[in-house]
Amino acid sequence: MAATLIDGKAFAAKVRGQVAEHVARLKEQNGITPGLAVVLVGEDPASQVYVRSKGKQTVEVGMNSYEHKLEADTSEADLLALIDQLNNDPSVHGILVQLPLPKHLDEDLVINSIAPEKDVDGFHISNVGLLGTGQKSMVPCTPLGCLMMLRDHHGSLSGMDAVVIGRSNIVGKPMAQLLLGDSCTVTIAHSRTKDLPDVVRRADIVVAAVGRPEMVPGDWIKEGATVIDVGINRIERDGKNVLVGDVDFASAAERAGAITPVPGGVGPMTIACLLANTVTACCRANNLAEPEGLTA
Ligand code: GUN
Repeated sequence: MAATLIDGKAFAAKVRGQVAEHVARLKEQNGITPGLAVVLVGEDPASQVYVRSKGKQTVEVGMNSYEHKLEADTSEADLLALIDQLNNDPSVHGILVQLPLPKHLDEDLVINSIAPEKDVDGFHISNVGLLGTGQKSMVPCTPLGCLMMLRDHHGSLSGMDAVVIGRSNIVGKPMAQLLLGDSCTVTIAHSRTKDLPDVVRRADIVVAAVGRPEMVPGDWIKEGATVIDVGINRIERDGKNVLVGDVDFASAAERAGAITPVPGGVGPMTIACLLANTVTACCRANNLAEPEGLTA
């Protein structure tokens, strides 16, 4: 393997350490404990695992965790009433409504009912608009984690050619905005892109976020490029259940200059950035200096 491995697990531990230090300072100097409320509707097993992990890590960095578990048949009115209550609770600095929601609930309506300054997912239409116009916003956690790793590896990203594969609202689009904000030349590729291999071969930075196991082979990667693999796909291989990314790691690592593994790359950064966003939201709510290096 020629590529440097970008260790997201270690990086996430470092981010959590920075968050914990900032939380300790807020408690000591200002008497404030940041609080994160997570709302889970229904019993989707994967969502339950994520929510448990978020709650555990929130407490580990010294913040308050408030979990609200609602029945799968909760009405939209009841969910909106809970969000309204959390919006008005000064001990809650961040609100996350776990997605996907049950089908009878309007996801856009629910997300846009969260107070934008408490929207630690960065999904509210106001935050999307602020990010798109280069203004201070809450930034979606997974793209923020990718940006932190890229900045850490390269220093400046200015002038680099970046390709984002995937155009989701959660990863692809905000990732492209962040790279543009750091002065990359950005291409967003997707399922209708005419010659994807050719587009990827021109990129100094490849961010793969399509959710298709190992769809990017190594021979698409430019020699020395940095590859950030957002995919987390479960497949059967040699009779075993394994996790793989959107990039074929073995062949891509032969050509890339640096690459994130799956697991242990982008994955751990998402919750670390959620904690970072919560401390940032808490500082903004109290007109205090924001932690350095934890925002876009
Ligand atoms: N479900 C899967 N990923 C996420 C995420 O980042 N935020 C929320 N709210 N739900 C999710």
